[in-house]
Amino acid sequence: MKVLVAGGAGYIGSHTVVELVKAGHEPVIVDNFSNSKETVIDRLEEITGTHLTWYRADLADQSLTRAIFEKETPDAVIHFAGYKAVGESVEQPLDYYENNLNTTFSIARAMIASGCDTIVFSSSATVYGDAELPLTESEPHLDSLSPYGYTKVAGERILTDIAQAHDLKLGLLRYFNPVGADASGRIGENPLGRPNNLMPAVAKVAAGRQDKLLIFGDDYPTRDGSAIRDYLHVTDLAKAHVVALEKLGGFDSSVKIWNLGTGKGTSVFELVAAFEQACGFELAKEVAPRRAGDRAEIYATPTLALEELGWQTELTIEDMCTDTWRWQSNNPDGYPDGEAQSTPSSVNAS
Ligand code: NAD
Ligand code: WQD
Repeated sequence: MKVLVAGGAGYIGSHTVVELVKAGHEPVIVDNFSNSKETVIDRLEEITGTHLTWYRADLADQSLTRAIFEKETPDAVIHFAGYKAVGESVEQPLDYYENNLNTTFSIARAMIASGCDTIVFSSSATVYGDAELPLTESEPHLDSLSPYGYTKVAGERILTDIAQAHDLKLGLLRYFNPVGADASGRIGENPLGRPNNLMPAVAKVAAGRQDKLLIFGDDYPTRDGSAIRDYLHVTDLAKAHVVALEKLGGFDSSVKIWNLGTGKGTSVFELVAAFEQACGFELAKEVAPRRAGDRAEIYATPTLALEELGWQTELTIEDMCTDTWRWQSNNPDGYPDGEAQSTPSSVNAS
């Protein structure tokens, strides 16, 4: 399949490009590099051993998006393109609603115009809001506490309505907490500025780029008092996208939803201990008050993905920490600045 990877230069998108090539598909990366660097393209070409087609383009621009789809005529799309920082979305809700929804509108319009009928959308466990565990795909009440989260609730609904009206195949993938990096150590997550999420913060402390780790709350009603999440390796997550694309056409329903997680919770203290094992030294850390809006415990019920896609995670918390540390220690400041060595493709948008 030729797969247009919207936001393919980002953290999860880049790992998915690797797995698409490994599985024999042809990715076309489209990204405006608002939260990524062009030099990731060099790393991807190195890992995959292939020349990649890529565009520097704003997917919120409808005519540009349509021109790319008309030129490439992809068989399917994976839609990663959007902003993703929960706290920032509270401060800049308009930017989040505008970018995350406009990319979705452009992509949907371009699919319909070019006859592309299959899309996988990056959704999130955040759509469960404060729903009671177990969190299953049939949960009727979706909500979210942040504008970011609400772009996922709305994105799911908008794409569902469009898929049903235009006979598209839609996969809504609800990720839990993706972490880790490709085993090569050449690609990984590199948030700009101080990281909001736990694993990037742990990795920055280990690399000497952040003075200490703040542990947000040790008074939760959990086994060790710290909050519990369902961390999954980004390579397992990337593989789930490939399987979802390959299998979407085989279901009667035009819209399918899958939780993607391990089904097991790990506490903040447990994750930090696993990372200390992986890097071989103790990290500077301090307990701080709970972070506003955090739940005590969240983990997936991932059984539907196993039953319907035959997908389940294979990599462990130890793998997640070892691979993150390999990436972070080899690239303490992330990707180099500068242009990619290969030339981007271009289109003339009217
Ligand atoms: P990321 O920021 O690394 O990747 C997103 C990519 O989209 C970036 O390369 C960015 O430059 C690009 N982009 C943003 N707006 C664009 C636009 N208008 N046009 C073209 N490109 C644009 O984020 P990620 O962690 O790889 O997440 C990918 C997707 O998965 C996002 O939609 C995110 O909301 C979702 N998600 C992420 C997580 C997580 O914990 N990382 C969890 C659940 C869901
Ligand atoms: C995990 C735990 C923190 C940083 C977020 C989004 C969610 C999804 C995944 C996109 C919490 C604690 C964190 C730190 C800490 N993203 N923590 N010190 O909040 O489960 O989910 O990312 O869709 O929508 O909300 O992940 O990694 O931010 O936090 O103690 O420096 O680690 O309080 O308990 P979260 P996280």
